[in-house]
Amino acid sequence: MRKNFLMGVLLGAALQMGWAQDVAQGKIQFQACESCHQVEAGALALGPSLHGVVGRNAAAVPGYRYSPALKKSQIVWTPESLDRFLADPQAMVPGNRMPYSGLPDPVDRANLIAYLNSLP
Ligand code: HEC
Repeated sequence: MRKNFLMGVLLGAALQMGWAQDVAQGKIQFQACESCHQVEAGALALGPSLHGVVGRNAAAVPGYRYSPALKKSQIVWTPESLDRFLADPQAMVPGNRMPYSGLPDPVDRANLIAYLNSLP
């Protein structure tokens, strides 16, 4: 009984650690973003390039016309703030112009952020 419980805890932890870092899965998640976002530096589509997004300030891609809401948000895109934003963009930055309702699964978000963080 106790042994099974421990196995379950260990397996759960291993799965979580593996999933939290899964860049390949994150690349698949990124297909939901690709119609609007490029990952090459400076490439403008409907949305701004996400090249180097982890660690930069919000609304910082030169030449992209951001919404006033995002410009005055003063967010720095860390894995934590990206996680909050991608869960529900309008809740975190009301009035932003990203037409995307959010990615509900925390594992999907973690993988996606790992992918964004892995880009050269
Ligand atoms: C239908 C188009 C569309 C989709 C799909 C979309 N975005 Fe966006 N995204 C935008 C637009 C437009 C903006 C600029 C919003 C603004 O100025 O308020 C934006 C802004 C962002 C920003 C802020 C960038 C910055 O420079 O501050 C991040 C981060 C982001 N999107 C990530 C994502 C991710 C990750 C996905 C996929 C899960 C995604 N977006 C899906 C259109 C989209």
